[in-house]
Amino acid sequence: AESIRLGILGLGTVGTGVVQLVNEHQSELQHQTGSNVEVTRVLVSDINKERGAELEGVTLTESYEEVVTADDVDIVIEVMGGIDHTLEVMKEAFKNGKHVVTANKDLLALHGTELHEAAAANDCDLYYEASVAGGIPILSGLKSGLSSDRITKMMGIVNGTTNFILSKMKDEGRTYEDVLKEAQDLGFAESDPAADVDGLDAARKMAILGTLGFSMNIDLEDVDTAGIRNVTLEDMTYADRLGYTLKLIGLAERGADGVHISVEPLFVPADHPLAAVKNEYNAVYVHGEAVGETMFYGPGAGSLPTATAVVSDLITVIKNVRLGVSGHDNVAAQHQKQLKPKSAITSK
Ligand code: NDP
Ligand code: HSE
Repeated sequence: AESIRLGILGLGTVGTGVVQLVNEHQSELQHQTGSNVEVTRVLVSDINKERGAELEGVTLTESYEEVVTADDVDIVIEVMGGIDHTLEVMKEAFKNGKHVVTANKDLLALHGTELHEAAAANDCDLYYEASVAGGIPILSGLKSGLSSDRITKMMGIVNGTTNFILSKMKDEGRTYEDVLKEAQDLGFAESDPAADVDGLDAARKMAILGTLGFSMNIDLEDVDTAGIRNVTLEDMTYADRLGYTLKLIGLAERGADGVHISVEPLFVPADHPLAAVKNEYNAVYVHGEAVGETMFYGPGAGSLPTATAVVSDLITVIKNVRLGVSGHDNVAAQHQKQLKPKSAITSK
């Protein structure tokens, strides 16, 4: 079988999971794509760091050009994070004809349209399932399974770190700082965990969900955002006594007066399904006019769950290449601009 060669940007929590999955699920990859899939190049910031990944035959480099311009790379997987520099790196990848799979919600939420345009201009695919809710196929659900419906509401827990913190504070009586440290050690938190605890990571994900679910270009500043930094053990005990559980909830609603999107800590009734979502798990409730209520649930952060989303996107790209079709995201990119009704975004 022909080989598909991967260049991976980043070898941290997610990158290591991607390498592991590609190595250990070769038979699934071959069955799905008819190809052997191999990692040929990996970008890191420190080539001398000890790596917990099987890297035999892989070229490790600190120069992104050696990945995104390389002849022995067909598809680039961006799992290093970052915004401005990473935007340039991804554009360079497209210019060199590389399809890109990314887990980077920061970049998608801020520069989604620009990235889609750069991909389309170079006839490349851009996929980003892992950017929202880790291992849960929520973007495929919106782009594919529910694409015929008119989505009216999306609500849920889309940040694993804050849900981990709130769950452990409630169930184990541990302090905010103590649990945040554990979430960082487990690789759930962003490199700057302020993005998690201040609600920004969830806001980025809600902007991506809103853009896809409502077929309009939602900017990050359209999302009313508050985090959990000031939540105390007393707040948790108080909520518990009243029959509530404190959760960081993302909400995106389409009403007669337009669209409203927010992220904030809310008291959820203890018998509500979202109250039962614990630790790094996420859940997104989606309501469509025709389908009614649907619920997506699963691990929202972590190495292998996130890698599953990345490698599944990779399979989609390889299938697109085999069939000679462009990813449907490129079609969305062309429409997205026309569908940007700024006046339709409402504030609370
Ligand atoms: P990590 O911090 O664990 O890993 C980042 C990797 O990228 C490291 O290997 C680092 O190199 C490398 N890197 C970072 N910046 C550069 C640079 N400028 N040049 C070269 N190499 C660089 O991050 P994660 O794996 O946790 O996250 C990666 C991406 O995936 C982020 O966008 C994140 O938001 C997203 N994501 C993360 C999830 C998670 O559960 N962790 C879930 C869903 C999405 P070195 O190893 O040498 O330091
Ligand atoms: N820091 C993010 C979270 C990673 O905790 O949800 C997954 O996107």
